[in-house]
Amino acid sequence: MTVKILRSRVLSFDRAPQGPQDGDAFTYIEDGALLLRDGVIAARGAYLDISRQEPAAEIIDHRPHLLMPGFIDPHLHFPQVQVIASWGEQLLDWLSDYTFPEEMRFSDPEHAARMATAFFDLLTAHGTTTAVAYCSAHKTSAEAFFTEAARRNMCMAGGKVMMDRNAPDGLVDEAQSSHDDSAALIEAWHGKGRLRYAITPRFAITSSPAQLEAAGALAQAHPDCFVQTHLSENKNEIAETLRLFPDAPDYIGVYEMHGLLGPKALLGHCIHLESREIDVLAETGSHPVFCPTSNLFLGSGLFDDAGLRARGIGNAIATDIGGGTSYSMLQTLNEGYKVLQLQRQQMHPYTAFHWITRGNAEVMGMADRIGTLDVGSDADIVVLNSAATPAMALRAERIETLAEELFLLMILGDDRAVVQTYVAGVAMKAAG
Ligand code: GUN
Ligand code: ZN
Repeated sequence: MTVKILRSRVLSFDRAPQGPQDGDAFTYIEDGALLLRDGVIAARGAYLDISRQEPAAEIIDHRPHLLMPGFIDPHLHFPQVQVIASWGEQLLDWLSDYTFPEEMRFSDPEHAARMATAFFDLLTAHGTTTAVAYCSAHKTSAEAFFTEAARRNMCMAGGKVMMDRNAPDGLVDEAQSSHDDSAALIEAWHGKGRLRYAITPRFAITSSPAQLEAAGALAQAHPDCFVQTHLSENKNEIAETLRLFPDAPDYIGVYEMHGLLGPKALLGHCIHLESREIDVLAETGSHPVFCPTSNLFLGSGLFDDAGLRARGIGNAIATDIGGGTSYSMLQTLNEGYKVLQLQRQQMHPYTAFHWITRGNAEVMGMADRIGTLDVGSDADIVVLNSAATPAMALRAERIETLAEELFLLMILGDDRAVVQTYVAGVAMKAAG
């Protein structure tokens, strides 16, 4: 049995903050400690109490840093690690000029395995311990993704992309083969250790009606799998979707008709929605995923967080690598803050840090295991240094409150602020 105590300042959200003054939404312990036993948080409290409780435990002193739940990134593309930072295009040209050619390379198991190693190294370097990822259309890419995630004992969801049209030959599958490959991957990986499967029709443009029907059948047969796709990211994308599906009332109607919506559905972007589409999101309990760095980089548009929340819709926030430009959930908050500023909406740091931890976990229906530092949760933990760079250290000198510190971390922080990342209690970075 492995028992260790992490000592430092401890922060974990108990519920969504209601506003800047809502200090009751979280637990904060100044000289705190977490007792980790076999990858699970066995106790949390004041350091003196915890150390008395377990006097023989190894003590890792992270003072003066901040211990938080590991970050959750619920929308990104594993085969786009070498697409990130590709110049000049908006969505549809960016896909055909940069993304599809790169994703073709993931038919090679060796390439997929090398990229999987790099991908998970990058995630933990940036403090991300759970993600929901798109693999390529090749079954091999999903095999590489799950094999490497399992080796690291990470809580990861992913799925082979289903795409049977409007893409190059080396990348498209067929309705039946995509169904059968996805079903085999679910059988092999879903629920194995900390892994979950996400049924992944890429988006309406690259799936025939027959393939969307196959995806819907999978969703019905496996109601505890996620369903992930893209919705209303770009105006040309929307026009092309409506041209391809003339019988659909609107873009979301395509997914609705094929039984793909519901509380397990994670819908990337959701920027240019019609009012009926918002009604459908609310009625089905589907979840939009805000991807700010991607939405700015691809010039897609501004996500209306407050408008959707006012309808009771639960939004996630994510990087969308490689349309997104940073693996850091801190930098994702930074850009998200600015996207909301442009719409006179405010993202308070309490809301922001709740969002990338418990908030995203709730959207995934997994807040009992990840996204908090509650007793019984998996010990996925990030250790943050608010004075990690000269600019941060200088600004930190003038900080008086936790909210100010969190805001500094989300505006100036990135992987340099991540001192250590624990995955199920195991340190993933060499120094700590
Ligand atoms: N829509 C369909 N595929 C993609 C993708 O890979 N990235 C983004 N941002 N949007 C998409
Ligand atoms: Zn995406």
